[in-house]
Amino acid sequence: MKKTLALALAVVMSLGLLAGCGPKEPANNGGTSNPPSSASQPQGGASSIPDAPAGGGTVGVCIYKFDDAFMTTYRNALQEILEGKGYKVTTVDGNNDQSKQNEQINTFITQGVDALIINPCMTSAADSIIATVKAANIPTVLINREPTAEQMAAYDKLVYVGCDARQSGTMQGELILDTPNKGDINGDGKISYIMIQGDPENIDAQYRTEFSVKALTDAGMEVEELDLQRGDWDREKGQTICANDLAQFGDQIEVVFCNNDDMAIGALQSIQSAGRKVNEDIYLVGVDALDAALNEVSNGNMTGTVLNDAVGQATAAVEQMEALLGGATFSSGNQSVYVDYVKVTPDNVGDFMG
Ligand code: GAL
Repeated sequence: MKKTLALALAVVMSLGLLAGCGPKEPANNGGTSNPPSSASQPQGGASSIPDAPAGGGTVGVCIYKFDDAFMTTYRNALQEILEGKGYKVTTVDGNNDQSKQNEQINTFITQGVDALIINPCMTSAADSIIATVKAANIPTVLINREPTAEQMAAYDKLVYVGCDARQSGTMQGELILDTPNKGDINGDGKISYIMIQGDPENIDAQYRTEFSVKALTDAGMEVEELDLQRGDWDREKGQTICANDLAQFGDQIEVVFCNNDDMAIGALQSIQSAGRKVNEDIYLVGVDALDAALNEVSNGNMTGTVLNDAVGQATAAVEQMEALLGGATFSSGNQSVYVDYVKVTPDNVGDFMG
């Protein structure tokens, strides 16, 4: 990391460029931890990387809600990395309430934090959040809910760190295509599935829903959607939706697509209560690679999942925050940094387990 920064700085200096006008190549070097070998480096990032400070500033972290399994792993990773670098960190729970989060952002600004890391409650709040941090001139990293490039272009001390959810959807479809009967358990020539969706306001939910099925149809498979319902990333909702669908559609259901693992763990409880057996008479896939899901993939109770690399994203978020604190600016169209998803199957699940 230091080497990369030093190199980037040398390039910027030798070209005589000012901050904000530097080279367009990604200069960041965000890591992944789980496992480092199989995930690639984030793309995009600061357009120039002057010296990063040694740490020791204050950082306000806004999480959309603490009661979310994946974001709990993510916020713990953020806290650990930031504190390990000597920052004073305060992390607050937005309770999935955008007006509450707006107040929390304003409080952090009043307190004079050096930087903000924000996981918005609502994607639709991006414009107002960006206007607020810009007016206060606070370097800000948005995480987990991606605004549009146009929205981010309003403020050059702003960067988004996340993943391209299309990739995770495609991988979910591939997990089904990789099964012996390509998801068509009853051999009737079509894959009959239910889709348990996250919060549909979230681009992750939209893309995973679309691209998981697209992977199937792109491979020439016929598909039949028996049901699609929002489960808001929530385990209990996943369980209830799956139980109702199993009661209504029974053996017709061949595949249960869940936009995340927490809902898949809930769905698994209903699958087991209904006497069905994953990988024999039904397939089940999620996203995130939560510990509970890794255990179920390893035990054969989930067909697979997709690593949503919380530690890699937290690492990249802190790197970008440090670039901003060092004076970097982000040019329009170059404000998103992506960390790769990784497919998790029974064959490689051991690589991801602690
Ligand atoms: C997704 C993740 C979900 C949930 C959501 C919150 O990336 O897969 O489990 O945490 O973010 O926005």
